Amino acid sequence: MTKPKLLMTRVLSPVTIERARRDYDLDLNEADVPFTPGELVARAAGKDALLVALADRFGADVIARLDPSVKVIATYSVGHEHIDLQAAKARGIRVVYTPDAVTVATAEIGFLLILGAARRASEGERLLRAKAWHGWQPMQLIGRRLDGKRLGIYGMGKIGQAIAKRARGFDMDIHYFNRRPLDDALGATYHATLDSLLAVTDILCIAAPSTPETRASINAAALAKLKPGAIVTNIARGDLVVDDDLIAAVKSGHIAHIGLDVYANEPNIHPGYYDLENAFLLPHMGTSVIEARDEMGRDALDNIDAVLAGREPPTALV
Ligand code: DGY
Repeated sequence: MTKPKLLMTRVLSPVTIERARRDYDLDLNEADVPFTPGELVARAAGKDALLVALADRFGADVIARLDPSVKVIATYSVGHEHIDLQAAKARGIRVVYTPDAVTVATAEIGFLLILGAARRASEGERLLRAKAWHGWQPMQLIGRRLDGKRLGIYGMGKIGQAIAKRARGFDMDIHYFNRRPLDDALGATYHATLDSLLAVTDILCIAAPSTPETRASINAAALAKLKPGAIVTNIARGDLVVDDDLIAAVKSGHIAHIGLDVYANEPNIHPGYYDLENAFLLPHMGTSVIEARDEMGRDALDNIDAVLAGREPPTALV
């Protein structure tokens, strides 16, 4: 029996590749370098399914040029701003994603950002590695404790809620802004507007998806609403933040520390970040644990299996 044809645009975990080879006629991008739009269209020709990642841009132009053989695009992510869902729907292509597998890993990195920024982790590490540490000093690298601080969670989806759960263990006072209040918000206080959340926040955790409404929402006006000395962290998407405005707010001292895992225009991040001493910066590694990688692969393949078998996929976007 001939197997359905699957294009895997990046090198995923060994468990995922093994299953994909077992069940599909697999075309794997062994080079693990993102395809250009032209390469994407060419390699997708004749495929039944595409298992893709964040750097694969499926704008309306690319989707219009996809071979009619393509029935499903599975993105190895919860974020899906790289895919034009309406264009896919118009062509009858299903789009599926992996919203559950990423939650714990991303919340853990979200907390690492909070701790790393509040406790000045990268400044300490740089001092040590520069062989510039001359021993314990009472007033060296003074940061902030988390207990009793107001954590403002912007976006209370699965990841926001998982961060709130962890923040309870740190005795934080948890506040959130979401389109709607949750039935069970783990004792967190709801704010109906972002401005209202920002006004009470000591430590901001951005956990909202990138949408036309959220893009550039953390701009100069929003940052000015935060208390002087606030901390800003971002585990979601870089384009929610106006980089020039955040960098200016840090330089002015209004924002004391930042912790970022995501950036606009990755990997070509705003050069101003490199020079900020009080920035704890990670290279988009929210889901970089083997447990999440295997589960993301499992969920993506379960979805593809379902679409190709004529069943409703477990986690579909369109
Ligand atoms: C996601 O899932 O959207 C992350 O950013 C990458 O895993």
